[in-house]
Amino acid sequence: MSLTPQLLVVKDLSTTFDTPAGPLAAVGGVSFDLNQNETMGIVGESGSGKTVLARTVMGLQPRSKVTVSGSVLLNGFEVVGASDVEKQKIWGLQVAMIFQDPMTSLNPVMRIGRQIDEILRVRLGMDRHAAKARAIELLELVGIPSPAERYHVFPGQLSGGMRQRVVIATALAGSPQLLLADEPTTGLDVTIQAQILNLLDEIKERMKMSVILVTHDLGVVATRTSRLIVMYAGRIVEMGSTRDVFVNHRMPYTRALLDGSPKVSNPSHTRLLAIPGRPPNLLKLPPGCSFAPRCSFATDRCHKERPELQPANTPGHTFACWNPLPTNRGASA
Ligand SMILES: Nc1ncnc2c1ncn2[C@@H]1O[C@H](COP(=O)(O)OP(=O)(O)OP(=O)(O)O)[C@@H](O)[C@H]1O
Ligand code: SF4
Ligand SMILES: [Mg+2]
Repeated sequence: MSLTPQLLVVKDLSTTFDTPAGPLAAVGGVSFDLNQNETMGIVGESGSGKTVLARTVMGLQPRSKVTVSGSVLLNGFEVVGASDVEKQKIWGLQVAMIFQDPMTSLNPVMRIGRQIDEILRVRLGMDRHAAKARAIELLELVGIPSPAERYHVFPGQLSGGMRQRVVIATALAGSPQLLLADEPTTGLDVTIQAQILNLLDEIKERMKMSVILVTHDLGVVATRTSRLIVMYAGRIVEMGSTRDVFVNHRMPYTRALLDGSPKVSNPSHTRLLAIPGRPPNLLKLPPGCSFAPRCSFATDRCHKERPELQPANTPGHTFACWNPLPTNRGASA
C-alpha cells in the first residue's frame, strides 16, 4: 500500500449526452489524479465541460440520456456505474459539491439549521439534539454570526455571502474528504468573494480536505491552487503545477486564456478575456485540434489530427499541441 495514497484517480472519463440533435461529447477522455489535502483548479471558457466534469466525478449525472465511460476512483470506490444507493455511501460523506447557483442548493422554505441537521440525522444517524448542536457548530465554523439565532432563519433572510456560507456548512456536514466547488463565488461582490475563498482555504486546512475549484477567475486559481487543469471542448488541453501553467504554458489556448492576466507573483482578480472566435460545436467536433479554427499557430496537421497530451519539460506538466510555444519563457516571471 502506498504511503501517500491518491484520493481521486480519474481515467479516460467521457460524458456524452444523448440529445435530439445527436450525441454531444461534453467531456472526452479526461484523466487526472488528486492528492490528499491538495487544491486543484479547473479553468476554461464557458461550455468547456467544467461543470459536467465535476458532476460526473461526483456521480451526479442522470442515468438516462447520458453515457459515462472510464473510471473515477474515489478512495477506492468506483463512481462510474455505481447505483444511487451505492453512491449514497459517498455523497456528503466522502465527496460534496458546491454548485454554481447557491439558491438551488438550499430549500427556500426550510429554516437553514434544519437543512443542515437533516443531513446530520439522515446521513450520520445523529439524534435530534446532537444534530442541532453540530449544525450550530458548523454555522459558527463558516463564520455566521450569532449561529444559534441564525439557525432559525430562512435562506431568503440572509445576504448572498451568508447564504453561500450556509451552502458550505451543508457541504461540510458529513466531513467529506473531497469538496468540488463549482464557481463558488458567482454573483457575489469582490470583497465577499475573497472572504468566501479564504474561508474555503481555512476549512480545507482545518479539515484536511482536498478541493477542486472550478472558476473563471484566474486570480483565484493563481493563489489558491497547487495544480491546474485547462479545459477546451470537453478535453484537458494543458495540466500542470499552477506555476508551470501560468508561466511556462505550451498550448496557445492556455496563452489566450491567460493573456492580460496577472503573473503568479502579482495576482489580482482578473476575469477571462474573450478569445476571438467561438468554441466548437460539441455535436460535430472537428477531426483535428478543436482549437484550430481559432488558433493563429494552426497548420495543416492541426486540422487533420488531434494532438494527445504529451509531457513538457517539468514532471507532471502536459499539453496537447502540435506546435507548442517555446519553453522557459517564464523563467524570471
Ligand atoms: N444535460 C445536458 N444535456 C445536454 N448538453 C449538456 C447538458 N449539460 C451540459 N451540456 C452541454 O455540455 C457542455 C459543457 O457544459 P458545462 O456546463 O460543463 O460547461 P462549463 O465549462 O461549466 O461552462 P460555464 O463556465 O458556463 O459554467 C455545454 O455545451 C453544455 O451545453
Ligand atoms: S495543435 Fe495546432 S491548432 Fe491546436 S493549439 Fe496547437 S498549434 Fe493551435
Ligand atoms: Mg459551469
